[in-house]
Formats: sequence, C-alpha cells, structure tokens
Amino acid sequence: MTNESGDLMEKIVSLCKRRGFIFQSSEIYGGLNGCWDYGPLGVELKRNVKNAWWDTIVRQRDDMVGLDSSIIMNPRVWEASGHVSSFNDPMADCKTCKSRFRADQVFCATARDGDNVLLTAAVEADQPDDVPALASEKANSKTRRRLEQHADRIAWTIFRADQAPAGEVAVCPKCGGELTEARKFNMMFKTYVGAMEDSSSLAYLRPETAQGIFANFRNVVDTSRVKLPFGIAQIGKSFRNEINPRNFTFRSREFEQMEIEFFCRPDEADRWYEYWRDARYQWYIDLGLTSDKLRLREHEPSELAHYAKACADVEYAFPFGTAELEGCANRTDFDLRSHSEASGKDLSYYDDETKERFIPYVIEPSAGADRATLAFLCEAYSEDEAPDENGVMQKRVVMKFHPRLAPVKAAVFPLVKKEGMPEMAEEIYRALKKAGLAVFYDEKGAVGRRYRRQDEVGTPYCVTVDGQSLTDGTVTIRDRDSLEQVRVPAGEVVRFITERLAGA
Ligand code: GAP
Repeated sequence: MTNESGDLMEKIVSLCKRRGFIFQSSEIYGGLNGCWDYGPLGVELKRNVKNAWWDTIVRQRDDMVGLDSSIIMNPRVWEASGHVSSFNDPMADCKTCKSRFRADQVFCATARDGDNVLLTAAVEADQPDDVPALASEKANSKTRRRLEQHADRIAWTIFRADQAPAGEVAVCPKCGGELTEARKFNMMFKTYVGAMEDSSSLAYLRPETAQGIFANFRNVVDTSRVKLPFGIAQIGKSFRNEINPRNFTFRSREFEQMEIEFFCRPDEADRWYEYWRDARYQWYIDLGLTSDKLRLREHEPSELAHYAKACADVEYAFPFGTAELEGCANRTDFDLRSHSEASGKDLSYYDDETKERFIPYVIEPSAGADRATLAFLCEAYSEDEAPDENGVMQKRVVMKFHPRLAPVKAAVFPLVKKEGMPEMAEEIYRALKKAGLAVFYDEKGAVGRRYRRQDEVGTPYCVTVDGQSLTDGTVTIRDRDSLEQVRVPAGEVVRFITERLAGA
C-alpha cells in the first residue's frame, strides 16, 4: 500500500468506526482477529447491498428461487465437495519473529537498475501487479526516488514464497527473517455436534453457502416445479479460518456470501456463463461502482480448478490493492455428480421436452456481501468543499453512496429549536418514516454542521424547515452531491424524495 492509499484506507476505517458503520468484534476485550461487527449505519448499508442483490437475482427474475440452508451440515457434504481433502491454503512461518503468513500471498521482490540491485523486499499482496508499489514503500526515500524517476528501466524480479526458485529463500515481510517451507493448512472451522467430542460428532462450519444449494438440488426440483435453466440463490454466513485475515473486512474469518448456482443443459453452459459473468459485473456498476477501479478479469486456463471450464473475477482496486469481489465459474457437472456419487442419490434431471436424462451443468456467480460493502464504502468516500451557513467554503467528507445503498435516505432539520419549526419538521420526519424510508431527525447545532454530518454518512437528501416554512408551508430539500436546494411544499416532501430514490 502506498502512503497515499494507506492514508485513504485509514480515513475510511476511521470514518467507519467514528460514524458507526463497522467496529472491531468484541472490542472491549481487545477484539478478535478476522471478525467485525456492523454498527447502526453499517448494518443498514450491508442490508441494502444484500437486498439489492436479492431483488435483482430472485425477485425480479422468473428463473431463480431462494434458499436458506443450515450453517452446520452433515460432514459427508464436505468430504464429497472436496473441502476436507483440499480446502487448504499454503502456510509459512518466519523462523525469526514467528509471524505466520499465507505463503501464496507473500511475494519477494528485487528491483535492479542494470546490474545494480536497488532493493530487495518481501511484501504481502493479493495480486503480483501490486508488488512493485508495495515493495517501493519499504525503500528509503533516496531509493524510492530512484525507483520512481527511472521506473521505465527498472527490472523487477518477483517470486511467490511458496514458489521460490532453486537457490532462493523466501523472507518474512515483517522482519526479513527466513520463512519455513510452505505447508498445507485446512481452513474449515471444526466443531462437535451433541454431547460427545470425538470423531463421530465432528462437524464443520460451512466455508461457503454453495454446498447447501447442491445438497438441496433434488428437494428444490421435486417441490418447486422449476425447469432448466434455473438457479437457486442464497445469502448467508460462511466461515474460514484464514491464516492471515487482513485489509479490514476484506479477508475475514466470518463473512457473508451471496451465491447463485444456475443449472443448465451442458450444451448451453458456455452461453449462460457469459451471460452471468457480464450481468454480475454490470450489477456493481448499476449500484455506483462506476470508476475504472472496477474490472472484469477472465482467468487464464492455468488458473482454473480441474473441474472448471471457465472462470472470471469481478475485481476492485481497493486502496490496499486490486482484489476479488466476486467469482463467476462454469463448474460443469462436478458438484452434482460428486454429491450424487457420495450420497447414492440420483441428482440427474429429466428433460421432458427432449426426453433426455442428464446431470445439469452449473454456472456459479459467488459474491461476498462484506467485500461488496467495502468496495461501495471505498468508492463513495470523497473530500470536497461546500459552503457553510455563512457562505464560507468548508472542507467536507462526503460518502457518495448510490441512493439505493445509502443507509439513511433523508434527514430532517428544524433550522432553530423554536417558533413551531420542530413540530413541522417532526411531522415531515414521521411521514417519511411511514413511507418506509430510513430517516434521521436532528435539531442540534448549526445547520451547516448538521448538513456535514449527514454528508459524512452519505444521506442523499436533507430537508430543512425554516422561517419561510412557517409562512408559506414550503421547506428546502438539499441534494448531497449537487448541493442544490429547492423549495417544496411540506406535503410534497415524501413524493419528491421517493420519486427521486426510485429513479436513481
Ligand atoms: N462457492 C465458491 C466460493 O466460495 P470463493 O472465491 O472462495 O468461491 C466467493 O468465495 C466470494 O466470497 C469471494 O469472491 C469473496 O467475495 C467472498 N469471500 C471469500 N473469502 C472471504 C473472506 N475470507 N472474507 C470476506 N469475503 C470472502
């Protein structure tokens, strides 16, 4: 992370804490690494993200049904899915400072200017592309200047800690000490079901919601009259004992997924894969990730799991680097076939038009609700200037959330706490609440400060009752982004705001 992007991330994390979006889990006891709590505004924001997904994916479509399966399932599910044998990350420890790392996320980099070695450094990164910038941060200011000034002729050699070439040793990003060889670490959390704590009662917290969908494929086909092509969608918590949770909520040990398993005929799978890859990418744009920080990256054939025919990631350039928000994969018939073989149950589909029986292929767009929420927070964060009540320009932080995602849709203020203004403002506040909107009422302090407090949490509209309101019954509505203020009859406020929110 460069200084500038590090500062930006710090500002976002501190705003999240200060304004009640995201807190460290069990903070009063010193927290728990990899676990986070969403505060009053954060829970609204994340709920809006999940609702937008559910609405687009389930409610607006004819070919999708929903599901809410259990977190703890029969452990045989995880044997059949391959998670017990292969849901592993490579782990390496520093021999000196004893820190533990995900070895596939530690990169050792050397920068050369001709024969001259300018820098060797180890960094943690999600993508090799981010390594030169992150490694440069570790250089002293003189070397950093040389790296910047001669960027065009600097040659970087980079290797992953678990893929060190012969003769090279991977080193610790924290202290520079030597790292151990990478060894496999299974990321599933284990628990015991019932009173006995032995191998017969061993169970796992699900590391993905997807397997609950496959395990219910037969139930859904038999009870819902669905016909291919159709999908099953699920939102829910997943758990992974990440070796090194980091980057705020981006890599957590407890997180929420929004997953689709879309079943289709094998000969139509390529077309549905392209459809879902593009539709899911567009979903983020439609909700405000409009900058060039969002990108769609098709996997190289060498990156694909052995059962997958194609895979693409929706990625976002966070301040800490570019990383995955969602993966979309053509998983062929691998999952249904594995569960059918392991359970002995028939998970094939009979197509009564073509009179064929086969195991459907599945396209899986798998998103993280916390990662999407974090991307919306990062994209929304901006700093600009707005006039205060005296017309003097003041710096402001404004969260430019898409109105559909904004945790609070409108705030209502009486200009002063007297002359009947609070009563009129409260009536408008009640009417907005009755219309089903998340609304905030505030009568404390200078109105300019009240506006700025709402800007900082991304409230699209602020309604102010002032002196004129008492004589002609109109109020002002201020737009968060354009800062324009219009006068609207008090009785029209609900219609004005709901229409604009619906059109956003
Ligand atoms: N069923 C496929 C599956 O689970 P994945 O790429 O491992 O695929 C899908 O996870 C999505 O879940 C990711 O794109 C990410 O958004 C989210 N996710 C995965 N691990 C996460 C973690 N440790 N913290 C937060 N989100 C995570």
